[in-house]
Amino acid sequence: MTAVPFFDYSRHYLDDRDNYLKIIDEVSSKGAFIMQNELSQFEENLSSFTKAKYSIGVANATDGLEMCWMAIGLNPTDEVIISSHTMLATASAIKLAGGKPIPVDIGYDNLIDPLKVEEAINENTVGIMPTQLNGRTCDMDKIMSIANKYNLYVVEDAAQALGSSFNGKFAGTFGHASSISFYPAKVLGCLGDGGAILTNSENLFQTIYQLHDHGRDLNGIVRRWGRNSRLDNLNAAILDFKLKSYKDVIKRRRQIASIYQERLSTLEYINLPPAPGSEDKHFDIFQNYEITARNRNQLKKYLHDLDIGTLIQWGGQGIHQFKELGFDLNLPNTELFFKKCLMLPINLFISDNDVNYVCDSIIKFYK
Ligand SMILES: Cc1ncc(COP(=O)(O)O)c(C=O)c1O
Repeated sequence: MTAVPFFDYSRHYLDDRDNYLKIIDEVSSKGAFIMQNELSQFEENLSSFTKAKYSIGVANATDGLEMCWMAIGLNPTDEVIISSHTMLATASAIKLAGGKPIPVDIGYDNLIDPLKVEEAINENTVGIMPTQLNGRTCDMDKIMSIANKYNLYVVEDAAQALGSSFNGKFAGTFGHASSISFYPAKVLGCLGDGGAILTNSENLFQTIYQLHDHGRDLNGIVRRWGRNSRLDNLNAAILDFKLKSYKDVIKRRRQIASIYQERLSTLEYINLPPAPGSEDKHFDIFQNYEITARNRNQLKKYLHDLDIGTLIQWGGQGIHQFKELGFDLNLPNTELFFKKCLMLPINLFISDNDVNYVCDSIIKFYK
């Protein structure tokens, strides 16, 4: 059997090389590198896809999250509640925007637990930043009702979730603003770093727009201090091309998730994410297929020896476990989760045969 890499970065380029080269040649020949029509076109198409009123292409999702909080404005004592199972970027965005990230434990679905969110609220709390993890949107009814009850801002970390929805509404469009990542391995990935901010608020749009382009407004007039965090026009053109077939990409990922579900759901030693189509409210895009497994480390090694790539998300640490960053919390669900979690390969470059090979190997390991 051939190897099944976790994600083949070369194929990310090579599988569509001719189209990319054509786009690069067309756009570069015009000298259209920064803030040109291709970027505006992509932002418009992203808005119509997600039904967000405004989209702003930015250099990466981390910058995007930070600028959302900068635009809202944070004081050093202001607390923003985040999930313990998320990327460092979620926490650093709050910290670097001047506030204090407060991680809380995950619930049964490994996403931020709304009960823990409410417990963590105090007089310093100004916001919640749920992570729409692995391409699954949190129960945003619960999160938004807590936010409304306590008058809190909500910025969604939708880096992993473009196209996923809850109750028919897309991730990234529930709160005041959100940030999406186009890192190459994301479901919509570009050739390098890239991201976008979504918001329905005209005020936040204006402020974030200025922040991402040296403080200049849409007419180029300087309104405030700002930075340079623009999405390259070349990458915007490539993303716009890829957005056209995005629904098919999601469909394929859901097919792979269904094969995993069909083949592995009877194994008593592992837990799988909810099967596609098994829940009315959630539509998941499977950015990752993250399981928990008994004897996880041995399983990982066994699969590695068979040339099957797997990954332990965030290097196996919850945010609150980074003592170097000043965290010192005990969040038992997350800690148990990180002893067992493992992501299986899920991407456009693997065939049904590859997925079945992964499943056969896991079944063999537990026999
Ligand atoms: C949950 C989450 N938040 C934020 C980010 C940061 O995205 P970027 O790499 O575009 O800055 C990522 C990217 O991996 C992510 O998975």
